[in-house]
Amino acid sequence: MIEISNVIKTYKAGNKAIRKLNIHIADGEFVFIVGRSGSGKSTLLKMLLKEVEPTSGHIIVNGVNLQRMPRRHVPKYRRRLGMVFQDFKLLKDRTVYENVAFAQRVIGVPVRRIRENVPEMLKLVGLSSKYKFYPNQLSGGEQQRVAIARALVNNPEVLLADEPTGNLDRQNAEEIMRLLEEINAQGTTVIVVTHSQEIVDSMQKRVITMDKGMVVSDKRGGEIYELQHNLL
Ligand SMILES: Nc1ncnc2c1ncn2[C@@H]1O[C@H](COP(=O)(O)OP(=O)(O)O)[C@@H](O)[C@H]1O
Ligand SMILES: [Mg+2]
Repeated sequence: MIEISNVIKTYKAGNKAIRKLNIHIADGEFVFIVGRSGSGKSTLLKMLLKEVEPTSGHIIVNGVNLQRMPRRHVPKYRRRLGMVFQDFKLLKDRTVYENVAFAQRVIGVPVRRIRENVPEMLKLVGLSSKYKFYPNQLSGGEQQRVAIARALVNNPEVLLADEPTGNLDRQNAEEIMRLLEEINAQGTTVIVVTHSQEIVDSMQKRVITMDKGMVVSDKRGGEIYELQHNLL
């Protein structure tokens, strides 16, 4: 469960990125966050990752109050979240296998377990046959699949994706969305920031619309959802 309560974020420059945010997301939900550029979507994801601190309010992620978390616990906390970006952020000089394995190596997973986990993840994203390829030998859609495999290999409770299909054509975007849906069906909470109204319309999921740092609507399958949180 993710609870965002009365969160305000004013950047140093005086930029009011988040004016007041109240959002509850239950375990296992699939949530889209939409809104025009500058509405605070990325700031919201960064606050969930504890990369950005709220100016006030509080955020609780699966029982952990982020504002009270000691600095030294942050790396361990972040492992509980998987992150996917618009520009994939793969290591260009490493193979597909190495890109996914790296996420496990940095946290000290034994080689024997890495050798089991990485092929399993590559199978999930449909890239088993390309494990020796380098990122520049893959299509955009395939690169994003590698990034998703990397985000999932440490078995996160929540997957956060910031415009994951922003650099992809329509067909690849749809395939990535289907993959995210499958991951969600296996129990991971999935939060996807997107610009694509087409994708949102086709998926029938919960859709939170932000504008100027506030939630302006929260709907599921077209119905208004959890309106009370927006009015707090
Ligand atoms: N590091 C930063 N310093 C100052 N202002 C920022 C910073 N990051 C984002 N902002 C501002 O906060 C607002 C929300 O940005 P952002 O969360 O990136 O929106 P979105 O992802 O919806 O486009 C924008 O006005 C943006 O310029
Ligand atoms: Mg953004």
